[in-house]
Amino acid sequence: MILVTGGAGFIGANFILNWLAQSDERVINLDNLTYAGNLENLSSLKGDKRHIFTKGDICDSALLINLLTKFKPRAIINFAAESHVDRSIKEPDKFIQTNIVGTFKLLEATRTYWSKLERNIKKDFRFLHVSTDEVYGSLSSKESPFDENHRYEPNSPYSASKAASDHLIRAYYKTYRLPVLTTNCSNNYGPFQFPEKLIPLIIINALSNKPLPIYGDGQQIRDWLYVKDHCDAIRRTLEAGAPGETYNIGGWNEKTNVEIVRTICSLLDKLSPHIDGRQYDEQITFITDRPGHDRRYAIDSNKIKRDLGWKPTETFETGINKTVKWYLDNKIWVENIKSGAYREWINKNYKGRAL
Ligand code: NAD
Ligand code: TYD
Repeated sequence: MILVTGGAGFIGANFILNWLAQSDERVINLDNLTYAGNLENLSSLKGDKRHIFTKGDICDSALLINLLTKFKPRAIINFAAESHVDRSIKEPDKFIQTNIVGTFKLLEATRTYWSKLERNIKKDFRFLHVSTDEVYGSLSSKESPFDENHRYEPNSPYSASKAASDHLIRAYYKTYRLPVLTTNCSNNYGPFQFPEKLIPLIIINALSNKPLPIYGDGQQIRDWLYVKDHCDAIRRTLEAGAPGETYNIGGWNEKTNVEIVRTICSLLDKLSPHIDGRQYDEQITFITDRPGHDRRYAIDSNKIKRDLGWKPTETFETGINKTVKWYLDNKIWVENIKSGAYREWINKNYKGRAL
C-alpha cells in the first residue's frame, strides 16, 4: 500500500481518486483536515476498503511511526501543506510549522521506518515530495521557463517554506540515501479546488453575482496545469523516477490573470448566462496588488518528458472547459464550501482592497 499525506485537499484528493480508478493498491490518507481538507472530495469512496482515512498531523512523530509500522507502505507521497500565498502573507507561522517542521518530522519517521526494512523492500521504497515552481522565484518576460537547475529564489513565506522543505528532502537523499523524489509543479486547476485560489474563486464569485477581483494590473503570468495531468505525472514519477532526482511538471500554458478571468467569463456567458443579459466580465474589479507578487512563472517540463515519457494531455481550453462545467454540475459541493471557513477568509483578504 501507499501512504498519502494531505489527501483530503485539492490535489491529494484528485490523486487518490485517480489512483484507485487505476489500481486496487490500498491508500492510507493522513490529513489533519485544516480549512483546506474536505472529506466530501472523497465521498465517492465511501465504504471502499481500499481507502483508509486517518485524521492526524504530519508533525506528530508518534502517530507517524505507528502508521508506518502498522501499514508498512511501500511509498509515501507528501501533499500535506499550507498552500495559499495570500494566507502565508497574513499568517506565516502555520506555513513554517507544516511545510518545514512537518516535512522534517515526516522525513525522520520515514528514515527510522525505512532503515529497518528488509533489503529488497528497502531498495524499492520511495518518498515523493510534491513541491511548487514558486521556489524558483519570478521570471521576467524574456527569461526561459524554469528548469530543474534554476536557482532557488523564493519570494513569499509560502514559497520560502516549500523551498526549505525541498532542501530537507535533498539532504535526506545525500546524507542518508533515503530514496526521495521531488516534483515541482506549476499552478493546478480542476475539480475540488478550494475557492481561495484564482480559478474557482472567479467561477464562484461570477455565479454569485460578486465582483471578480484581479490583483494589480492582472498581467502576472502563471503556467496552468490540469490537475489530472499532474496526478498522472506524479504516478509516473513514482513508478520510474530516479531517486534523488527532481522533476518539473507544467502545462505549457502561460496565461495572464486577465486572460484567465476573461476566458472563464466567456465560458459562463455560454454555459450559464445571466438572465438579464449582462456579461460576466462586467463584474471584473481591479484591486490592490498582493505584496511581493511574483510576475511570471513558467515551467520547462522537458526533463520529465524525456526521462519518464510524461506530457500533459489537456490544453488550457479543454481543461478550463471541464473545470467550469464541474463547478456548474457540483452546486452542493460549492454551497457547502461557501458556508464554512471560506466566508471568513473572503472578509479577511478582500475587505478594503477596492481601488
Ligand atoms: P490544499 O491546501 O488544497 O490541501 C492541503 C491538504 O493538506 C489539506 O487537506 C489539509 O487538511 C492538509 N494538511 C495541511 N496541514 C497538514 C498537516 N500538518 N498534517 C496533515 N495534513 C495537513 O493544497 P493542494 O492545492 O492540494 O496542494 C497539495 C500540494 O501541492 C502542496 O504541497 C502544495 O504546496 C503543492 N502545490 C500545489 C499547487 C496548486 O496549484 N494547488 C501548485 C504547486 C504545488
Ligand atoms: P493563486 O491561485 O492564489 O495562486 P499562486 O499565487 O500560487 O500563483 O493566484 C494565481 C494568480 O492570480 C496570482 O498571480 C494572484 C492572482 N489572483 C488575483 O488576481 N485575484 C485573486 O483574487 C486571487 C486569489 C489571485
